[in-house]
This record gives sequence, C-alpha cells and structure tokens, in this order.
Amino acid sequence: MLEVSSLTRHFPGSARPALDSVSFSVRRGECVVVSGANGSGKSVLMSLIAALDRPTSGTVSLGDTDSSEPRVGLVFQDADSQILGDTPLEDVAYGPVNLGKSRQEARSIAALTLKRVGLEGRETVPARSLSGGEKRRLAVAGILAMDAEIVIFDEPFANLDWPGVVQVNDIIRQLRHMGKTLVILTHEMEKVLALADRLLVLFQGKLVYDGSPNQALRGEPLEAWGIRNPLGCYERLEDLLWSDTGDLAQ
Ligand SMILES: Nc1ncnc2c1ncn2[C@@H]1O[C@H](COP(=O)(O)OP(=O)(O)OP(=O)(O)O)[C@@H](O)[C@H]1O
Ligand SMILES: [Mg+2]
Repeated sequence: MLEVSSLTRHFPGSARPALDSVSFSVRRGECVVVSGANGSGKSVLMSLIAALDRPTSGTVSLGDTDSSEPRVGLVFQDADSQILGDTPLEDVAYGPVNLGKSRQEARSIAALTLKRVGLEGRETVPARSLSGGEKRRLAVAGILAMDAEIVIFDEPFANLDWPGVVQVNDIIRQLRHMGKTLVILTHEMEKVLALADRLLVLFQGKLVYDGSPNQALRGEPLEAWGIRNPLGCYERLEDLLWSDTGDLAQ
C-alpha cells in the first residue's frame, strides 16, 4: 500500500540528512507506529509521504500496482491549523465539495461522518470551541469524508489529557476496523503501541528498528534511541523523576 525506498532528505546547510536512506513498506490495513526522539525525522517523513516536500533522493510509492493511487489523509500535530470551517459541519463538508459533490450532498456526507467519529450533536457549534481530542476527531472526520485509504497521524497525542488520548485511540481502533492503512508518528509510543501491528524507530534520521512492538519492548535498546521503554516505567515514586538514575537526592 505504501512503499518507501532509500528515502533521503538533506536540507541545505545541515551537517547530516534529516532522513537518511530510509526504506520500509506498509501493507493494506496495517497499523504502523513510527517512533523516535524529537528531531529524529518523523515529520519530515510524513511530509515526503504526503508529497508536501520532495526527497533529495529515493522514492515513495502509494497503492497497489493494479489500482489507482489511494488518497492520503493527514492529521497534523497542530489540530487548530487543520480547521477551515466555522463549524464542524462546514469544515467536514469542504472535502466533498472539493471532490465535486453538491452543497447538499456534501453536508449530508459531513453529518454522517461526524456521527461516525462521535461528534453527533456538535455539528453546528463553533469549531474552535471543541476540545483537543474533539479537534483531532474532527480532522479524522474530514479525512473519512474524502474517502482516504491511508491515514497518517503526526503526534496525535500532543497536548491531550488522558480522556483526550482515550478519544483518539477509540478513533484509531475504529479506523482499523474499517480496514484503513494507518501510520502513526509519535514519540509517545506507550499511548498507542498496543494497537500497532508493527513498530518502526527513527534515530537521527536513520531507521534503526522495524519489527514487532513486543520484541522492541523486550530486547531493544530503546533508551539509546531517545525513547523510554514504557514497560515497568512507573513502579516507585522515584520513577516519576524522569531522570536517568532515578536518584531522589540528585
Ligand atoms: N524545513 C527544514 N529546514 C531545515 N531543517 C529542517 C526542516 N524541517 C525539518 N528539519 C530538520 O530535520 C530534522 C528532523 O525534523 P522532524 O521535524 O522530522 O523531527 P521529528 O521527529 O518530527 O521531531 P518532533 O518529535 O520534535 O516532532 C530536525 O533536525 C529538523 O531541524
Ligand atoms: Mg514532528
């Protein structure tokens, strides 16, 4: 469904490539989490997959050879920047209108899609008044209304409290059931790893792990790649120090 081959993005003036010869493929209906520390190249990867930016070298191919290119829907880290309409109904209706549907048709698709993501009853409130979790659900509604087959989330848990994380994960679960292909870019992998079929880890622009989430948690040097192994993280108060040593006296 998605094939990334030797993808490299070198920004002029930087010492090393932001993305360095990264290759992987994602099957139809797969849910893949891409993790890595700040600056490891996750958002650069998303821009290249979505064709918002061009690689220095390497290729991204989408879809199967026998079908037309699938639509890619993006859920950006900054949920506010993605809202175009004054109300959720208008916001979600933009996509179908752009695809050539009549206003009325677009509004009925929008209403149905908002219901699907659990925003029924909120169709005509000011879109900006929605909570962070609701705004991400609104972005997903926009993507569903455009019939995207691949959905990419960039840091979907940024600024969300626990109920917000639960809301986003409910949506991710629902998209999985719908058979969508999902790529979730996040350094907060503990929030979503249990829903993933596969984990990829980027470290300084290089792909350093591509395999099962379980194996990554059992035997890989995640901390050396700047991400914390969530298993057994918080057993004592000292664990909440988020220090390397866990020493209260320091
Ligand atoms: N337009 C740009 N020009 C120059 N350098 C860039 C540009 N965009 C990204 N970079 C650099 O590429 C590297 C990877 O950035 P990227 O935004 O992909 O990291 P990330 O993994 O998404 O981090 P975060 O967890 O903070 O979102 C960083 O060193 C960043 O400074
Ligand atoms: Mg990023």
